[in-house]
Amino acid sequence: MDDITSILSKYPEGVTENLIPVLQEIQDSTSYLNGEIVQAVAAYLKIPAVKIYSVATFYNEFRFNPGGHYHIQVCQGTGCLLDGSEQIRRELMRLLEIGPGEITRDGWFSLEWVPCLGVCQEAPVISINGKIITNMTPAKVKEVIAQYRKSR
Ligand code: FES
Repeated sequence: MDDITSILSKYPEGVTENLIPVLQEIQDSTSYLNGEIVQAVAAYLKIPAVKIYSVATFYNEFRFNPGGHYHIQVCQGTGCLLDGSEQIRRELMRLLEIGPGEITRDGWFSLEWVPCLGVCQEAPVISINGKIITNMTPAKVKEVIAQYRKSR
């Protein structure tokens, strides 16, 4: 909880406009949000906790369960489906040997299928810890995973 307090102290108290950057910075540090975090943010920014849940569940980038060190979201929107996201999902499952909602044994990667990530013109799209990667192909999936594995 010290991490949360230290992140919150970087922002002015009671300024509700900072909600999203605050949640992003906390999630970068803790890898996911939970009830304790939501209560701490609510008290500090003076926003009802229910409003924070509503914002955090609206945006795909926020999550309430622990994922891998790198959390990979694969868009399942219509644009991505039409442009081959099924192949991207299959390649990720093959390389990582996990399915959606699972974490690799080393804790390094987790997978999730999500609705439209908002950049349909560059489909198919994935996101890794909130970083959008566009125009995916199975070969590009292989390269991206190899790069992230190297960062271990
Ligand atoms: S359908 Fe995939 S980004 Fe919109």
